[in-house]
Amino acid sequence: MPLTRRAFLPLLGVIGHAQQPLTLHPESLTPFLEPLPLLPVAKPVESGPVPRYRIAMREMRVAVHRDLPAVRVWTYGSTWPGATIEARSGQPVSIEWVNQLPTSHFLPIDHNLCGAEKTNPAVRNVVHVHGGRVPPGSDGYPEAWYTPGHAETHRYPNGQEATALWYHDHAMGITRLNTYAGLFGFYIVRDDFEDRLNLPRGAYEIPMIFCDRSFTPDGQLFYPDSGQPNAPWVPEFYGDAALVNGKLAPYLEVQPRRYRFRFLNASNARFYRFEIPGLSLMQIGSDQGLLPAPVPMKRVIVAPGERVDLIVDFAGLAGERAVLKSGPTELLQFRVAAGKVDDTSRLPSSLRTVRRIAESEAVTTRELTLGEVDNLVAAPMRMLLNNTHWAMPVTEKPRLNSVEIWSLINLTDDSHPIHLHLVRFQILDRRRFDAFAFRNGGGLRYFGNAMPAAANETGWKDTVQADPKLVTRIIVPFEGYSGRYVWHCHLAEHEDNEMMRPYDVLPA
Ligand code: C2O
Ligand code: CU
Ligand code: CU
Repeated sequence: MPLTRRAFLPLLGVIGHAQQPLTLHPESLTPFLEPLPLLPVAKPVESGPVPRYRIAMREMRVAVHRDLPAVRVWTYGSTWPGATIEARSGQPVSIEWVNQLPTSHFLPIDHNLCGAEKTNPAVRNVVHVHGGRVPPGSDGYPEAWYTPGHAETHRYPNGQEATALWYHDHAMGITRLNTYAGLFGFYIVRDDFEDRLNLPRGAYEIPMIFCDRSFTPDGQLFYPDSGQPNAPWVPEFYGDAALVNGKLAPYLEVQPRRYRFRFLNASNARFYRFEIPGLSLMQIGSDQGLLPAPVPMKRVIVAPGERVDLIVDFAGLAGERAVLKSGPTELLQFRVAAGKVDDTSRLPSSLRTVRRIAESEAVTTRELTLGEVDNLVAAPMRMLLNNTHWAMPVTEKPRLNSVEIWSLINLTDDSHPIHLHLVRFQILDRRRFDAFAFRNGGGLRYFGNAMPAAANETGWKDTVQADPKLVTRIIVPFEGYSGRYVWHCHLAEHEDNEMMRPYDVLPA
């Protein structure tokens, strides 16, 4: 089966596998029946200079929609999605991540995948804070998994600017199944600079996690398989139901005023094209914090792993309704209260200075290919980074405090969200190139001019949409810690099938 750019497939599309059992049709469920669940804030078990949290991974049953039975999920803590960690820049926290999951998995493990061999336990977990500047021992290395009955304590220094990070499972070879089961939550870093901007806050700042799911006819989570019992891995998952904070098509009552929405795409493979017809989305931030200035967007495209920070003003819609959509799919209904309110929040015309890193600061440029097909004949097909497998010797070894340019050469028809642990980076540009010539040893031959990063991509990022048939260049200061980290595609199915590589930050 060819990989195609299916990122924009409507949610009510068909899963591309012939012999799957029928799934439940979410379009038969009435939308906008239940309120959007607001994510609780995690409470430390011990305060003090380094607040300590204890968060358990557990199996539980949750109500996704009024007309569905309780759905089995895996989560952190006692809600799904997990509670939000609220951290302050420069103030470390420690989290004991306790594995209390059952010892058998309810989703189809593919034992052919690297790290998921039959000799490994079925249920294995390790937590990664995506976007966190974290020492290697606390970063959640994919092979540093542990089994139910065990716990690991990670220390998070929070030495970074205010932004919305997120935590999720990262166990080698089964990350897609563990996150699909539900293992994720928000991790929000705040700082004084952002506080002084007086953006909407408290009840007017709402974090939302988007993920797509499919359900079996009896209303349980459905994850497809390839149809080959010994090799169930599928190249990408697209669900037919869109959940927001764990609810299928909820509504949100809002005041006719400004709101700040923190959006996270926690889907395995789906891209969202967020829009609220009739309203403009003012994008104020991306993965790693505030943009230099707000960018008015009609529609914001968000890949798996990415976050966007948006201001939406409902003042002109008092007494009316609006709908958050992605393509034709209605994700969430806003019910705007009538009348007028006194909105004391602000939307400043400039936000945070982002010093553009000059290309001349880079000491190394790496040309890295995305997704050479590893095996044209045998299934399963596999996408690699720079044509190297996970277990091959480390090839990317930037030095601490140096700047590098990484040219991501996408040879496939898919957009791959490429994520580097530890660091934040800037997007330089994207440019068409002659993939045929490249494959045949002709090197990089460009077509036309480079397209600079879009206005809403001029802030700091940790995940970049490397679009098909383009070379996407990022410039990366390697700061924080030396040690072993990973970089990978954030399409969870690709990541699990070796579209992930270790990299070493060498001591300065
Ligand atoms: Cu969102 Cu390697 O992670
Ligand atoms: Cu990460
Ligand atoms: Cu990919």
